[in-house]
Amino acid sequence: MILIKSPREIEAMRRAGAVVGQFFEEVRPLIRPGVSTWDLEAFADRFIARNGVRTAFKGYMGYPAHLCTSINEEVVHGIPSKDRILRGGDILSIDFGILREGFYGDSAMTYPVGTVNGVSSRLLLVTEQSLAAGIREVRPGNHLGDVSAAVQEKAEAGGFSVVRDFVGHGIGRLLHEDPQIPNFGKRGTGPKLTAGMVLAIEPMVNAGGWSVEVLSDGWTVVTRDRSRSAHFEHTVAVTEDGNRILSFSLDKS
Ligand code: CO
Repeated sequence: MILIKSPREIEAMRRAGAVVGQFFEEVRPLIRPGVSTWDLEAFADRFIARNGVRTAFKGYMGYPAHLCTSINEEVVHGIPSKDRILRGGDILSIDFGILREGFYGDSAMTYPVGTVNGVSSRLLLVTEQSLAAGIREVRPGNHLGDVSAAVQEKAEAGGFSVVRDFVGHGIGRLLHEDPQIPNFGKRGTGPKLTAGMVLAIEPMVNAGGWSVEVLSDGWTVVTRDRSRSAHFEHTVAVTEDGNRILSFSLDKS
């Protein structure tokens, strides 16, 4: 069942999302060669305490950290580690969520570390554009399949492939609510969108094939062909006249 949030609840979700957006503003300058993904986790720990919010991922199904940090061929759910040092030319996906006033916010971005090769920079651009294309389809009366199809078309037009095994999700008082939001699909299919729905749309796009596998740590998802992968996510509300991205920092919107 897809839960509908009241205007008051959407405002609370905007406040939760704003904290997530603020995190991404503050973490960006820290991403440079020589920094470990554990350093970023330590920053997230301080950020959470300073903002008086609660962690969303740590403890979720036993996940051990605030952040997911996924480098190069890692798609999602990479675990921060002192042994994982960023190098120039890497791409780094960071996924972060928090709980504030009873509601979750969830967002992800992929960053270049120093200067990256042409395919990598195009992968980041196309994946972010595929998220934007999906968000443009979010409005009352459209179907969820319109969102999924728009994401898929943009990613595949760029010569890349979308991951099938992991999907976006509804979000609210739970991190994962109905509906599941695949990054592939057919227009005009799936549930109709109505005002008050809140969706975490999160394309995972691979430079090579779409197939993925989970490493022996039980979490880290990598591309089977070890091609690079990018991940962008926003928490988005369906409004009367379209949509509103909730996971922007306050000074960015
Ligand atoms: Co998510």
